[in-house]
Amino acid sequence: MNQDIIIPAIDVQTPDRLNFIIEELACEASMVKVGMELYYSFGEKILDDLSEKELKIFLDLKLHDIPNTVGKSCKALGKLGIQMLNVHAAGGADMMSAANESFKSENEKAKLIAVTQLTSTSQKMLNEQLLIPGTILDCVLRYAELAKKSGLDGVVCSAMEAPYIKKELGPDFLCITPGIRPSGADHNDQKRVMTPQQAMANGSDYLVIGRAITEATSPKKAFQDITQSLSQGI
Ligand code: C5P
Repeated sequence: MNQDIIIPAIDVQTPDRLNFIIEELACEASMVKVGMELYYSFGEKILDDLSEKELKIFLDLKLHDIPNTVGKSCKALGKLGIQMLNVHAAGGADMMSAANESFKSENEKAKLIAVTQLTSTSQKMLNEQLLIPGTILDCVLRYAELAKKSGLDGVVCSAMEAPYIKKELGPDFLCITPGIRPSGADHNDQKRVMTPQQAMANGSDYLVIGRAITEATSPKKAFQDITQSLSQGI
């Protein structure tokens, strides 16, 4: 099993916990996810600290604003030397195209990914709070299609939707899947959840795993246990 497939989400706020997790994971993971919690707590310096440890960075800032603002912001983020960035597909095709063009003008090799529906969104929430009719699967598929037409490299979705996206949009269109929980683990706020094994079987390209790794007594052992169970197919 290629351990690059697991992207730990380093969702922490204190320097002590951050340093501990970096030390534990630096020799295990190839790429880590820097989300809002970490980025807003430590600022841009965190990206240099992680790069110094030779960790690749998925900057999960989920941009969503008018096309001009997102486009110009993505140009700025393209200068940071990250390997992956995301925007919300709900911002629409013009916003995604502007983001893609600006980001890649600064960082040609990096991937731009669209968040479809958050893995914390349930069917009921989609229909009754977001007021989007139809099924989650259909919404995710349509957002994914729009992201592909806008030139993006893939989507963030639940592993439940990954096989349908691969079938409709092809094997090279990336499916990055959070909402991953080892069997029996607490789902917390996540609603569309799968185990690492189910996610792999469904064709996920990358598994984003946060609390199951970062809140473990030994994040290193939690990471190793997951990769080992995947390589053994259990
Ligand atoms: O702790 P847990 O494994 O639930 O963390 C999931 C991570 O993935 C969090 O950092 C969250 O912000 C992120 N994420 C998500 N659902 C999305 C996109 C990102 O859970 N659709």
